[in-house]
Amino acid sequence: MSITILGIESSCDDTSAAVIRDGYLLSNRIANQEVHRLYGGVVPELASRAHQQNIIPVVDTAMKEAGVIPSEIDAVAFTRGPGLMGSLLVGTSFAKGFALSRGIPLIEVNHLQGHVLALFLRRMTDDGRRMEEEGRRMTDDRRPSSVAGHPSFPFLCLLVSGGHTQILIVRDHLEMEIIGQTIDDAAGEAFDKCGKVLGLPYPAGPVIDRLARVGDPLAFTYSRPRIPGLNYSFSGLKTSFLYSLRDHLKEDPEFISKNLNSLCASLQFTIVDILMNKLRRAAEQTGIREIGIAGGVAANSALKGALETEASKQGWTVHIPTLAYTMDNAAMIGITGHYKYLRGEFTGQDVAPVARM
Ligand code: KG4
Ligand code: ZN
Repeated sequence: MSITILGIESSCDDTSAAVIRDGYLLSNRIANQEVHRLYGGVVPELASRAHQQNIIPVVDTAMKEAGVIPSEIDAVAFTRGPGLMGSLLVGTSFAKGFALSRGIPLIEVNHLQGHVLALFLRRMTDDGRRMEEEGRRMTDDRRPSSVAGHPSFPFLCLLVSGGHTQILIVRDHLEMEIIGQTIDDAAGEAFDKCGKVLGLPYPAGPVIDRLARVGDPLAFTYSRPRIPGLNYSFSGLKTSFLYSLRDHLKEDPEFISKNLNSLCASLQFTIVDILMNKLRRAAEQTGIREIGIAGGVAANSALKGALETEASKQGWTVHIPTLAYTMDNAAMIGITGHYKYLRGEFTGQDVAPVARM
């Protein structure tokens, strides 16, 4: 018997719905919220209003694209947290209503676990052909990477997003242990906050990535954290970036426009170096050479490049998700829902979203 899961994601500023059948992705629709660009960051109140407007059309389109009708859905998986409370409430309420009206189980998903399980997404083509490891052998600029199939257990996952930076040991689809994490800002936050200082639009991560391509990564140096163990810290880098910029601007008010590419390249180089140092140490300590990356920052070209260089030096096998599945999306929630369904891990109608997990 086949299992069809409707996945719902609304933790931040993207409203997304996806349909997964037997672990294969049939559709994944995302409505981005452009309104936040005007404010240089996500405005929670505006995000929840936009989710409210988007959720029904997004689910409707995802189901049409998948060619499924509501009676064919076996369970609804939704993001319970972490995220913005108002945003989470929209997806949670929708999922509860859908499940209740159809008399089907509800499955709560941890957004971060979803990012990791994006590494296990497989797509079904329109004519029903099952595509194994689609996109996974390539980086987004179509260069072959050292990736081969889905990660095998146990593997280390560097989860880098706008809200989180963690190193996890993934022992099974649903069994993960955090062995290192940021004690302050996340890596994506470092990109976004420093980008804001440079006058770049939100989210600045992808813009910095693009501008850095023609910049000198060694033009400027910024302070690096001295945090013991496998934990990260990015707040010192942010301050160091800000102070360095302020000093340069005193001497030359046009410093930013004259050096934008190299400022981006140097900042990106420092962030990637900080991320890679602890990941290398985690691999040494655990002896695990199977490495995955996940979360929005996993789209960063310098991070992917550094990972592939390290892979050939250390004999790692690296797994980089397809670009569309690194950022927030419901496909990753649906695939997590699929594995939870197989284990019978369902949630009651009294479930409430949680901002922190
Ligand atoms: O995973 P995600 O979509 O949302 C969260 O759960 O936070 O991650 C968004 C973060 C933002 O901080 C964004 O600037 C960053 O991912 N990001 C990037 C790139 N693409 C997205 N950072 C660096 N380089 C990129 N190419
Ligand atoms: Zn996310």
